[in-house]
Amino acid sequence: MKHYKIAVLAGDGIGPEITHEALKVLKVIEERNDVTFELMPASFGACAYFETGDAFPQATIDICDQADAILKGPIGLSHEEAKKIPIDQQPERGALLPMRRRYNTYANFRPVSLPKSLAHFSPLKPEIIGEGIDLIIVRELVGGLYFGEKEMGVNDKGLRYVRETLEYDEEQIRRIMHEAFKLASKRRKLLHNIHKSNVLKSSVLWNEVMEEVAKEYPDVKVVNFLVDAAATALCLNPIQFDVMVMENMFGDILSDQGGGILGSLGLMPSACIGPDKAYYEPSHGSAPDIAGKNIANPYSMIGSVAMMLENSFDMAAEAKNVWDAMQGVFGDGYSTADLSKPGSGVTMISTEQFGDKVVEKLRNMPKA
Ligand code: IPM
Ligand code: MG
Repeated sequence: MKHYKIAVLAGDGIGPEITHEALKVLKVIEERNDVTFELMPASFGACAYFETGDAFPQATIDICDQADAILKGPIGLSHEEAKKIPIDQQPERGALLPMRRRYNTYANFRPVSLPKSLAHFSPLKPEIIGEGIDLIIVRELVGGLYFGEKEMGVNDKGLRYVRETLEYDEEQIRRIMHEAFKLASKRRKLLHNIHKSNVLKSSVLWNEVMEEVAKEYPDVKVVNFLVDAAATALCLNPIQFDVMVMENMFGDILSDQGGGILGSLGLMPSACIGPDKAYYEPSHGSAPDIAGKNIANPYSMIGSVAMMLENSFDMAAEAKNVWDAMQGVFGDGYSTADLSKPGSGVTMISTEQFGDKVVEKLRNMPKA
């Protein structure tokens, strides 16, 4: 019997609701397999700040340090609420970035996937979606502007100014490139390298290192794309993409656009992988406006569980069953509010009902 410890950080806003559904799915995985999960809940984000004065408290750090994997809900507050917290303790800067730094989770995988049968969820026309969207964004997660030196003050002209640094060394670029090329080798052998080398020197080095690494993967075809052009191409012709690799900030922006072309950010799970530790989280925020209403889509959180099963626990077959179960629920004509447009013929269900239906489907699936 395998035994894994999972730190569960439900987070803020809709975090607790969607985490609740994800944990129901984990329970079914335990029932169906020779595995037990020890869940270790811990507070993280704005809720942790209000409880303890620290958005990433030591007690949570200790739990995460011990865990085999971390399942993390979205964090953050509304623009107005956030102002009540000192800038460096706001959950993104006070909890999330320190966690990424602590576990050096440099490789962020963000699947953007919608089978043809669910094309009606997308704002794109069926002829654009063709046989379905199935690409994955590989985002560098611990470098660039997010982690560079920052400075704010008043300059010698008496004007308020700010300086943020975009810094990468070749090793940081090389390791994310290897992740991207390895993934591309296992898929369509096509890698889109996203950059802005017509302006940014960071992209010049990025591309240089990419070309060096490419020599080790001669069967992968590389297509270079400027990031602004990639934004347009994601709307006009997303099916040309398979694996896309990019630096931190570009990945933040284009992955949200990925949610846009699917029809909802609620369809965006992710895996954040470091040398010794990985954590799994929805790519989206905590949606404080709909928190507590039992209407959020738990797909991104349950999908993050699927990614955890595959990457951290070597349970790829069960991970696939989880994806199939969720798509089966959509396929039966149900969805949460984010994807139930008027006239779409979809029956709207709650967060909890979506979780229940996924659980029911999963229970009925043949065991691997
Ligand atoms: C994401 C989020 C985070 C980011 C925020 C919450 C700091 O938008 O994971 O994409 O910008 O990386
Ligand atoms: Mg983002």
